[in-house]
Amino acid sequence: MIMNNQSIISEFLLQGLAIPPEHRDLFYVLFLAMYLITVLGNLIIIILILLDSHLHTPMYLFLSNLSFSDLSFSTVTMPKLLQNMQSQDQSISYAACVTQIYFLLVFAAMESFLLVIMAYDRYVAICFPLHYTNIMNPKICMCLAGLCWVLSMLYSMMHTLLLGRLSFCENNVIPQFFCELSSLLKLACSDIYINELIIFIIGGLSTVGPFLLIIVSYIQIVYSILKVSSTRVLHKVFSTCGSHLSVVSLFYGTIFGLYLCPSTNNSTVKETAMAMMYALVTPMLNPFIYSLRNRDIKEALIRVLCKKKMSL
Ligand SMILES: *[C@@H]1O[C@H](CO)[C@@H](O)[C@H](O)[C@H]1NC(C)=O
Repeated sequence: MIMNNQSIISEFLLQGLAIPPEHRDLFYVLFLAMYLITVLGNLIIIILILLDSHLHTPMYLFLSNLSFSDLSFSTVTMPKLLQNMQSQDQSISYAACVTQIYFLLVFAAMESFLLVIMAYDRYVAICFPLHYTNIMNPKICMCLAGLCWVLSMLYSMMHTLLLGRLSFCENNVIPQFFCELSSLLKLACSDIYINELIIFIIGGLSTVGPFLLIIVSYIQIVYSILKVSSTRVLHKVFSTCGSHLSVVSLFYGTIFGLYLCPSTNNSTVKETAMAMMYALVTPMLNPFIYSLRNRDIKEALIRVLCKKKMSL
């Protein structure tokens, strides 16, 4: 709870989705279905990678981390949205709101750091195939994944602590369907200069930095393909990098769409659509992007299912 001279704000109202009452049931079912597909798709990937020893390679272990953070990312926002839709109550307590922001930032940062590590993994696999197992040994992989988690938590903790020093007065309407850092900053009635400065510097660095690192890895990969132009190598590169590149495009496409597109007058609609995109659609699509065109995952699925059948 935030104490203030004039008033006390203990809850916010999430007014992101202005769905007409006659369509509420339809959207409720739609969102529930999308959320269940997200949970199921990502869980299947995590369990497959856990069960099948052929998939215990750095690429798939990182993919399993990515699925975990996708799953968690939509679990931070969707159950609350569904609950609010059903009870037709738009409130969220201050504590729940800050918790939502903390975990959203953790998993968003995690996703962006993991995409860099996965790009680095592909770079080593393609440019230094003979040293691959040496460079990406289990210990290094654990360190890289651990570093991702620690950095994401510190990053999110910093934003959340800075948010904690702000006070909120009368306006408690968030024009979004979950608590988001930028929407909450707009409601604050204390000075948000420091918060905006930190978001601009650290937030910018931790978005643009990973993006540039991924681009650099891919430039190196393309450079090394051009030197060895055999179709077999090309095929291998496309089959292992294609999925990663699709996930990267989806992730950064949404971010850049959100921040770089000129804002039109109905920007709330655009912001809601974009939020929908990164809170629901991206985490749902990632497991499919990775499994549909991927022979390793399909074979693992068949192996795991057959083993089950035989043991039964
Ligand atoms: C994340 O990656 C690390 C290192 O490769 C691995 O040991 C760990 O099991 C993964 N965690 C999850 C939840 O997939």
